Parts: sequence; C-alpha cells; structure tokens
Amino acid sequence: MLSVNNLSLAVGEKEILDQVSLDFVLGKNYCVLGRNGSGKSSLAMAIMGHPNYEITHGDVLLDGESLLEMEPNERAKLGIFLAFQNVPEIPGIKFFEFLKGVYDNAHDTVTTFLGFKALIEPILDELQISKEFLWRDLNVGFSGGERRKFEILQMKLLKPKYIILDEIDSGLDVDAFKVVAGLVSELDSPENSFIIITHIFSILDHLPVDEVIVMKEGRVAQTGDKSLVETIKVEGFGE
Ligand SMILES: Nc1ncnc2c1ncn2[C@@H]1O[C@H](COP(=O)(O)OP(=O)(O)OP(=O)(O)O)[C@@H](O)[C@H]1O
Ligand SMILES: [Mg+2]
Repeated sequence: MLSVNNLSLAVGEKEILDQVSLDFVLGKNYCVLGRNGSGKSSLAMAIMGHPNYEITHGDVLLDGESLLEMEPNERAKLGIFLAFQNVPEIPGIKFFEFLKGVYDNAHDTVTTFLGFKALIEPILDELQISKEFLWRDLNVGFSGGERRKFEILQMKLLKPKYIILDEIDSGLDVDAFKVVAGLVSELDSPENSFIIITHIFSILDHLPVDEVIVMKEGRVAQTGDKSLVETIKVEGFGE
C-alpha cells in the first residue's frame, strides 16, 4: 500500500497541500479530480519526490516505509511511476539513453547497448513506434500524442506498481486517445494501481475505478465510488 499521511507541502512561503491523507491499495485504481490549482499535480510530485516541493508535515509511505529521504530514482526502483502533466524536453539526451537509464536503474543492472536494443525494439513494434525515435533528443519536438505513447512504453518496460497519470488524456486527438486509453486498460492488473488525474473523465470509461478523490484548495474535499464522477460531471465541484 502507498500511503500519504497528513501531508502538508509548501513551495517557498506558499502552502500547497494541507494535511492530505490517502491510502492507495495495490490492485485498486483511483481517480483524482478537482479544479485547476487544487493541488493534484503537487500531490503527484510529492509522492515522486520532486525536490521543489518542501514537505512541512506528514509522510509518504510505501508498505509502511517512509519514502521522504529517498530520491525520485529510488522511488522509481520501488515501483512508483509518474507520467508528468508537462513533460520536460531534454536536448542532448537521446531517447534510447534515457530509456536504458531508467531500465538499468529499476533493475540495478547495466545492460549492454545491444542487449537493451533487443529488449526495447519488440516493445516499440508492439506499440507501432518508429525506431527512429530512439535516436532523437528526449521529448524534443515530440507531439503530445507521441509523448503519451512513450509513457506507455516506459510502463511496459518498467512494469511499475503504482502508476500516476497526470492528465495523460489531455491534448490527444480522438484516435490517439483511443490508443492510449486502450493501452492503459491493457496494462491494468491486480498487481498494479492506477492513480488517474483527469479533467476529461472519458479515460475512466476504459478502466475500473475503485475510489474517486476530490481535491479542493490543497485538501481532500470528498471521496467516493465511481458514481461521484457522474455527480461531478453534472453538478461541477460545488462551493
Ligand atoms: N513550483 C511551484 N511554485 C509556486 N507555486 C506552485 C508550484 N507548484 C504548484 N504551485 C501552486 O500550487 C497550487 C496547486 O497547483 P497544482 O499544479 O498542484 O494544481 P492542479 O490541481 O494540478 O491544477 P491543474 O488541474 O490546473 O493541473 C497552485 O496554486 C499552483 O500555482
Ligand atoms: Mg495539474
């Protein structure tokens, strides 16, 4: 289980999360909703260990063990994966090197160039991604749809346990959305948990969701089952 325990977060003087407590049970799927600026991405960043977010109170625990002293790569090794809302472009790093780096980190190994190539190419074929992408600079000039597909590629490669998708469904054309939603639903298993942050809702038609969490002004305002999504679609987030 991944637990967020009375977590408060600040960036500089600004308080961003206020005593948030949530339990993500492995095997169940979650959906996090809330207005723009309610703290959803910040929560994801804090779970992943982004250094800009100072934890002023509380803890993040994986199976009872605190993650607070761990770097993001150590958290990734334990099976936590975050698909960022805004994917950074990194000129100078080839996509191949990046993928090999995350794979080697997760498996505490150093794969050879040819070894990793043999491992990644079937996944590229499966996802119908051109091999030329491996030799492009990381995310530089990748379209929104390509970036999303490449996140799925990483999930297939790393098989993470807790998968946080921060608006993976925004900015996709109808066909790309179908591909991404279909791949996400294929990856869903009792051995993993999806934590889906969305404003679009339609990705939730492709995935069973066990709990819906509504954030408001840095707090958990409401939790409920999937029917809460329908209520929010009609009534909005309320007062
Ligand atoms: N690095 C930062 N520096 C300053 N303020 C920040 C930083 N990161 C987040 N915030 C502030 O924290 C609040 C919550 O932001 P966050 O990105 O978590 O919201 P969100 O719920 O993900 O919104 P959206 O739905 O628009 O993505 C906002 O007011 C935002 O401006
Ligand atoms: Mg956000």
